[in-house]
Amino acid sequence: MSITVIVGSTLGNAEYLSDHIVNQLENKGFEVKHHYNCQVEDIINTKRLLVVTSTHGVGEIPFNLDETFNELEEMKVNLQHLKFAVVALGSRDYDLFCGAYDKVAEILKNKKAVELCDPLKIDCSEVFDHDSAYDEWSSNFYEAL
Ligand SMILES: Cc1cc2nc3c(=O)[nH]c(=O)nc-3n(C[C@H](O)[C@H](O)[C@H](O)COP(=O)(O)O)c2cc1C
Repeated sequence: MSITVIVGSTLGNAEYLSDHIVNQLENKGFEVKHHYNCQVEDIINTKRLLVVTSTHGVGEIPFNLDETFNELEEMKVNLQHLKFAVVALGSRDYDLFCGAYDKVAEILKNKKAVELCDPLKIDCSEVFDHDSAYDEWSSNFYEAL
């Protein structure tokens, strides 16, 4: 089974976590495409998508992923073939906790993509072992795939 993992990260936390996630998926036998500089085609041309993103600014998607989602939002495209889940890193110190999750999920759902399971939202001000947080959540995700 193939899956695309895309990353939104400014300071590296989501990027490091995505490396762990890709290793876990490959150990489970998935064929993984891993994009830090994701293009809109990488989203459109896959059936399974895992978005690993932090939140920056005021509830914003990080710069390296924001433009791609802006482009996708403007496109007339039907993504009913696409199933997705989101691993979101943020901090409850900010008003819009994991705001990037809300934006990513809204844009994908507006294009008829189907969300596989509840997101994992990691509060990085309290949870420091992000890999273990993913491992605990991931059984829901694997079952839904
Ligand atoms: C300038 C700045 C703005 C942030 N804004 C938010 C926010 O609006 N909502 C949130 O949940 N977390 C926010 N965060 C917390 C980051 O999402 C969190 O530190 C995360 O671990 C960063 O991951 P990254 O290194 O992959 O970018 C912000 C952090 C910084 C430094």
